[in-house]
Amino acid sequence: PSGTGRQKDGALVVGGVDVRELAAEHGTPAYVLDEADFRLRARAYRTAFEAAFGAVGAGVDVYYAGKALLTVAVARWAREEGLRVDTASGGELAVALRAEVPGAEIGLHGNNKSDAEIERALDAGVGRIIVDSLVEIERVARLAADRGVVAPVMVRVTTGVHAGGHEYIATAHEDQKFGLSVNPANEGAESPAMTALLAVLKRPELKLLGIHSHIGSQIIDPDGFEAAARVVLRLRADLAERSGLLVDEVDLGGGYGIAYLPGDVALDPERVAKDVAQSVRAVCQELGTDLPRFSIEPGRAIVGPAGLTLYTVGTVKPVTVSSDGGADFTRTYVSVDGGMSDNIRPALYGAAYHAEVVGRSSSAENVLARVVGKHCESGDIVVHEVQLPADVRASDLLAVAATGAYGRSMASNYNMLPRPPVVAVFDGASRVLVRRETEDDLLGLDLG
Ligand code: LLP
Repeated sequence: PSGTGRQKDGALVVGGVDVRELAAEHGTPAYVLDEADFRLRARAYRTAFEAAFGAVGAGVDVYYAGKALLTVAVARWAREEGLRVDTASGGELAVALRAEVPGAEIGLHGNNKSDAEIERALDAGVGRIIVDSLVEIERVARLAADRGVVAPVMVRVTTGVHAGGHEYIATAHEDQKFGLSVNPANEGAESPAMTALLAVLKRPELKLLGIHSHIGSQIIDPDGFEAAARVVLRLRADLAERSGLLVDEVDLGGGYGIAYLPGDVALDPERVAKDVAQSVRAVCQELGTDLPRFSIEPGRAIVGPAGLTLYTVGTVKPVTVSSDGGADFTRTYVSVDGGMSDNIRPALYGAAYHAEVVGRSSSAENVLARVVGKHCESGDIVVHEVQLPADVRASDLLAVAATGAYGRSMASNYNMLPRPPVVAVFDGASRVLVRRETEDDLLGLDLG
């Protein structure tokens, strides 16, 4: 977006602010969030889905999946761009409410919501609670009855479609904790999804809004969304046959993939919206049912590319690596002042990132480098493999791109490292959204 690029002297500018200024004012490591970029992506998803689904005669709501990154300001930005907010815990719900997102525009997820979380959601009048088991259906009904309210619920189902990376697979039986399967345990039996939907309909304290499906994350191919939508729409038609009720809503979840590395291709919201909209229209025509209202829950696609992490280089160390059968080679280990506590994704998923020296230009040739953190284990890797200028040295500022999603939200205090601040940049100015933790913050929790 505008306001981002390199200065003449080689320094990176984000949201109109020079990274050297950001480092001087806020310190490193720091999560830097480009507000304009976040807003642009939120708007792009909303307008693409509204246009494509509108063209086939279906309404659509976009929920920002707060698990990717939720702060009070971020929740406000989402709302200002016409998005609703999806939460997955009482804590995320509290952030959305603090941001004055109306309860009706909030959804609550989770496979093991506590009574307290459900009560809080009911008291806030959330627009939907996505239920995940029969036990939970009873629990929500009981708590709604206690309050004399009717809880709006969606049932989360598993379609057997799994997607992520570059392909999708379909399996009949799933060995994972989320959702209720559309596939019966034995031939001829009722599916767990159908059982749950009928259970909701039996409870006067529950209003069945619709069916929810989430197939995976970092998906690049729209086929998986189409396949899952087909299964959900068929279940919806089956339920109508069984119960006489054609539910109003279908949520297709999140998972829209982004570019992490320079050559990566992101999922194009216009393309996925068009493909999915056309496919759901065709399926509903086949089934002879009206189109439901749709919703989606992108998280990563909205906030991931809008964030970068700014680090300062501490030590640089060449390490000679012997390779099987090949010649020995040298890898330059570049240590930064954060690591797996601010970005667990490389260690947890083997996730790939891109890093650049951003405080200056360099005419040195590139060397094969590995960016590592300051934690006490060798798996503390920030970027497995990247070309960096051979003169990379202590005090250099290093930026890792596309860390906006699941960076801060999955951060820890491993080795008693205070978590970095979230700093927003916009139109040449920076503002702290979440301040840096201090050792006193951490020691304050330790009662001795
Ligand atoms: N909706 C539901 C029900 C979800 O479970 C998720 C993600 C989303 C929406 C948002 O997915 P997104 O659009 O952000 O892909 N920690 C992992 C990702 C876990 C995602 C879990 N659910 C990572 O860092 O890649």
